[in-house]
Amino acid sequence: MATVFVTRRFPGNALARIAAAGHTLDLWEEDRPVDRDALLARASVADALICTLTDRIDGELLDACPRLKTVANYGVGYDNVDVAAAAARGIAVSNTPDVLTDATADLAFALLLAAARRLPETMAVVTEGRWGSWEPAGYLGHDLSGATLGIVGAGRIGEAVARRAAGFDMEVLANTSRGGTPLPELLERSDFVSLHVPLTPATRHLIDADALARMKPTAILVNTARGPVVDTDALIAALHAGEIGGAALDVTDPEPLPADHPLLAAPNVLVLPHIASATTRTRTRMTELTVDNVLAGLAGRPLPQAVPVP
Ligand code: DGY
Repeated sequence: MATVFVTRRFPGNALARIAAAGHTLDLWEEDRPVDRDALLARASVADALICTLTDRIDGELLDACPRLKTVANYGVGYDNVDVAAAAARGIAVSNTPDVLTDATADLAFALLLAAARRLPETMAVVTEGRWGSWEPAGYLGHDLSGATLGIVGAGRIGEAVARRAAGFDMEVLANTSRGGTPLPELLERSDFVSLHVPLTPATRHLIDADALARMKPTAILVNTARGPVVDTDALIAALHAGEIGGAALDVTDPEPLPADHPLLAAPNVLVLPHIASATTRTRTRMTELTVDNVLAGLAGRPLPQAVPVP
């Protein structure tokens, strides 16, 4: 029977299916990501690995794991896994698409609304005892109806964001690797820009100083994709210079973002700790899907959510 190393505690009971199938579960029980040495040591005797975005699965690690046949990544993004290196060693990799589409789109929209209507800033007015009176000309934000939302990367999540935008009577522009509105035009015309591309060499710093300079001075950038899709230094400079109106970010570069990071001192920034898929139902379904893939791999079947080999 096989050994499965699991690098975090995951919601739900689906891992029990692995044990019920007669396999051995080796669980990382601590409330922090597994450190590199422990990952190398414990994965080295595993037949399957359940990992997540904080685990770097690269050639060095794979070389240390002669028995490994399946890497099941808990998350739709899999930029933490060197898929080509895995394929070269006969190791299949899976992710967890679909089940987190709505939760992620919801959070993108929550960020968009929170930034448009200045929620963090206005809540601070209340909690800090600065709420003097109702202000006819105070706290003015942006309307969503009639505004233009530019979606960069119109895959499953981007399309789900577009559906939500239609309900708010927004005009939607979409850019994908296959076409749509060219990125420079999308950036110039949008009141809100929401990022939904995977992190790849082609999308790293896709939103750089030039891209930010194209955006409207009132525009709000929303990122629920991956932090390095945005050049953080360029974003900080653009916010200070008033080149864009604000940024609402669920993901940052680096992660976690230190409390004294200069991004947090820039004006009109809202940062969340990478929670887009963090609902009980979604995270439970992610565990179930991950386990489906591990069991398929251990049974020698193709992984239902195998990621494409580049
Ligand atoms: C993902 O799935 O890639 C998210 O970033 C974590 O749920």
